[in-house]
Amino acid sequence: MTQNNQDKLTQDVVAAFADAPPRLREIMTSLVKHVHAFARDVDLTQEEWLAGLKFLTKTGQISTERRPEFILLSDTLGLSMMIVTLAHARESSNAQGATEATVEGPFYWAGSPEYPLGADISAGASGEPAYYSGRVLDLQGRPLAGALLDIWSGDGDGKYDVQLAAEPEMKARGRIHTDSEGRYWFWSIRPSYYPIPDDGPVGDMLRATNRNIFRPGHIHMQVSAPGHVMLTTHVFVNGSPYIDEDEHVSRRDSLVVEFPQHPPGKAPDGRVMQVPYYSAAYDFRLAPARA
Ligand code: BEZ
Ligand code: FE
Repeated sequence: MTQNNQDKLTQDVVAAFADAPPRLREIMTSLVKHVHAFARDVDLTQEEWLAGLKFLTKTGQISTERRPEFILLSDTLGLSMMIVTLAHARESSNAQGATEATVEGPFYWAGSPEYPLGADISAGASGEPAYYSGRVLDLQGRPLAGALLDIWSGDGDGKYDVQLAAEPEMKARGRIHTDSEGRYWFWSIRPSYYPIPDDGPVGDMLRATNRNIFRPGHIHMQVSAPGHVMLTTHVFVNGSPYIDEDEHVSRRDSLVVEFPQHPPGKAPDGRVMQVPYYSAAYDFRLAPARA
């Protein structure tokens, strides 16, 4: 096929979408142009394209609600992070000073238990106790009362509840609302670094390309309040192994937090701890939603 014929092929496929609804047409024609350009750019062979199709087939076959391999693929290609940054720019008229957003990742589980302020959300997850506290604020520093924090993390051994059993129970997940001064506080464990699930095609891809499979310790938060852009982010454990190797997946320096260790005794919320515990303090700043 000559270069002209290759160009014509792309134009013909683009033209085939002419009657699609406008937004879908925009997406499909751009997708066709980019995948055609990609195949030409790398001079993709038939064997390579077949290998790619097998990879995508396996990605579908291994996927379940609790094992969303396509999300993992999107995360490891940096596409999730790209979509997150686009969403923030689109949804807020002014995100200057807002807490940085990161990916949701494959382990979010909607409908976690509602807890009162100060509760221990670990639900028996293994690991060393950690006390989390801070405030949810707007960009002027005003407290957001009644803001919702939807929280999830792996345990102290680097496992999420969904990885522990075929019929898992929720652990180290919960929803908490801020008080009238925008404050939140709760107990859970200090999360460990962990490997990205690597027993599927995404793991094969990471190994074949000599990429690191580990993520530094972090706790996930989705923070929302009326009139504000919902924030999906992580709080990272400073000093955790792999903290310097995660930027392309999700780490942002502004989200890396100290987790000092404290001896047994009275914790800031009055709880008397019989064992050493960690603490982490972080304030979230939410951007206003576009009118
Ligand atoms: C997570 O933090 O849950 C996660 C994010 C991206 C890839 C794998 C895991
Ligand atoms: Fe995670």
